[in-house]
Parts: sequence; structure tokens; C-alpha cells
Amino acid sequence: MNVLIIGGGGREHALTLAIAKSESCGSIFAAPGNPGILKIARRADVKISDFLQISNFCKENQIDLVVVGPEQPLADGIADALRGMGHFVFGPSKDAAMLEVSKDFAKNIMIGAGVPTAAYKSFNSYEKNDALEYIQTMALPLVIKADGLAAGKGVIIAESMYDAEKAINSIFSGEFGSAGAKIVIEEFMTGEEASVFAICDGKDYFILPPAQDHKKIFDGERGKNTGGMGSFAPTPMITPELMTIIESKVIKPVVDFMNERGTPFIGCLYAGLMITPENEPKVVEFNVRFGDPETQTVLNVIEGDFLKLLYTAATGKIDKECVKNRKGVVATCVVLAANGYPDSYVKGDEISGINDAENVGAIVYHA
Ligand code: AMP
Ligand code: GLY
Repeated sequence: MNVLIIGGGGREHALTLAIAKSESCGSIFAAPGNPGILKIARRADVKISDFLQISNFCKENQIDLVVVGPEQPLADGIADALRGMGHFVFGPSKDAAMLEVSKDFAKNIMIGAGVPTAAYKSFNSYEKNDALEYIQTMALPLVIKADGLAAGKGVIIAESMYDAEKAINSIFSGEFGSAGAKIVIEEFMTGEEASVFAICDGKDYFILPPAQDHKKIFDGERGKNTGGMGSFAPTPMITPELMTIIESKVIKPVVDFMNERGTPFIGCLYAGLMITPENEPKVVEFNVRFGDPETQTVLNVIEGDFLKLLYTAATGKIDKECVKNRKGVVATCVVLAANGYPDSYVKGDEISGINDAENVGAIVYHA
């Protein structure tokens, strides 16, 4: 089977390595890829936003499956366009990608499907005064979110009413552009977070080992939020019993509800969960793709034909037997970032020690 991978981060490097190890794998192409990915895949000289060009590339190179890494092309409708031109795609349609693209949409789905999540209310920019009134009824801290895609930056945890008002004003003044045309205000949940990935074929699913990621820049959970500084899998916080509850209260209801409303979810459904002190899972957010850097660990604690799992999901009848958890194996990923990150940072620094790391058995992902 020949595969085209869309994306060029650490997540896509991990996806490429796992696909390359699959028995069913033929040639792998990547667009745009990165130097790590391009050691194992060939570069596809296509623009990610040019769906017709991608389709032509797929025809010329007998691509059997397109795997989409990041959310933006999914939000832009890459899966719909390529499916419409006769290709198999691992990744949701534009309508199903709304689970990540709009936090208000995701909340409505959760209410419809009966999925536990934080109490909330949504407001349009013309309802700013209602929003300012609403927060007066809420306990602190409270959480204010720009509705749309904001690269993980559109969430403000307000410790005071002053901060909450400031957040509402700045989102509605355009701090996050059109992503802030609507806001979701919700109660603050306490607990520890975990990431659960379900590989979905529209009706059925297969759940991968649970992971945790860490977003603060410094050790000891200090400093600014980043795109992710590390991850580990499987997390012992999610016991088999808790995973059964997550499956029955979160994954199955969402997959069923999305299918019933005519927007079946095909791809990786990422449930960002808060495990409350009462050991109950509540959904913080949904993403419609693999997590980064969780994928770098999750894919190292499974074995089998990962490509077959994605292909059977994309073609409508997931084979849940082709992958299984590696017993007794754990993985951890540490992200190395340039000085200054997540603010503006130095570019062009040389990275040394990659061979040394590989020689002691580490896998070095390029991001
Ligand atoms: P999100 O983009 O919705 O995942 O939010 C980003 C981060 O903000 C999450 O990973 C949590 O750490 C935090 N967060 C979001 N919503 C809540 C909430 N209701 N209660 C507590 N923390 C939250
Ligand atoms: N690790 C967080 C994310 O992928 O959104």
C-alpha cells in the first residue's frame, strides 16, 4: 500500500515511522515532510491547500491512502475534496472536523450525546454585555475560550473578575481574529488531564493506549503554556476500569451521535479529558487528529500493522485485530526547544548529539 502523509511535525514523523514498520506498507510520500520524515519518505511536491494537485499526485503515484496530520487542512475540507475525487483519506470531513474547529459546536455535540463536560454558555460578539453579566454569576477561577482555532492559545483561565472581563473584551476586540467571533465561558474543572485517541471508521472505533502531555515550558509545571514539552504513554492514571467508563461515556456516544446526525467521524478522535478528584472523566476538548507530542509515545507502545488500522478505518470497516498494546512497555518523549520558546526564539542554531541519542536507543523525532 502506498501512502501520502500530510504534515511536517514531530507527530507526522512518528506517524511515518509507524506506517513504515507496517507489513502492508509500500512507498511513503510526505507533503511537506521534514528532514526526519524525508529519511524514510519521499517528498511530494504539492501544496497542501491545492486539493486538485494532491489528487493528481495520488493518481500518478498510485497512492492508496492519504493520512492527514494537522487540523488546518481538515478544517479546510481536504478530506471531503479528496474523497470526492475518489481517494481514501484518514481524517474527518469538514463537518466532522467542527468538533475541533468550534468549541461551541463541540459543546453542543457533548450535550446532544450526553457526554460529561464543564457547564458552559456561549456568546456572540453582539452579546458581550450578556457575557459580562453571566460571569458575575460564576465562581472563580473561570475559563474563557475563543470559539475557533487559535493554535492552543485561545483559552484564558481567569483568576479574578477583572481578568475575566479583560479576556472577554480582548477576544471580542479581535485578539484571535475570526476565531474570537464567539466565546465559550465555562466552569473550571480540577483534576489531572489525559489524552485518549480513538481510531474511528464512522461507526466503530479502536482506542489506543492513553497518554498524558505536559504543556508548561519549565520543569515542575512552571512557566508559559507551549505546544507541548513532553508526553508519556500509557498513563497509569487511566486504569482499564476507567478506560471502560471513558469508552461508554465519551467515545461511543460521540461516535454514535456524529454518525446519527449525518456527520460520521472518520479519523483520530482525540478526547482531551480531565480526570476529576472523584475519578470521573470530563471532556476538556476534542481534537480531530492525533496529538502532538502524545503520538510520539503512543505509537511506540503498540505493535502490529498500524497502516492497516488506518486504512481499514478510512475504508469503512475498521480491523480492530491488526494492532495490539505492547505489554509492559512504556514510552516517554521530551521536547527540546530553542532558547526563548514559546515566545520569539533564536532560529538556525545547530542541533548536536542526535547520533549519540540514537546510539543509546532513543528515537529522535524532527519537529
Ligand atoms: P483547550 O484548548 O480547550 O484544550 O484548553 C487548553 C487547556 O486549558 C487545557 O488543556 C486545560 O489545561 C485548560 N482548560 C481548558 N478548559 C478548562 C476547564 N474548563 N477547566 C480547567 N482547565 C481547563
Ligand atoms: N498535545 C496537545 C495537542 O495535540 O493538541
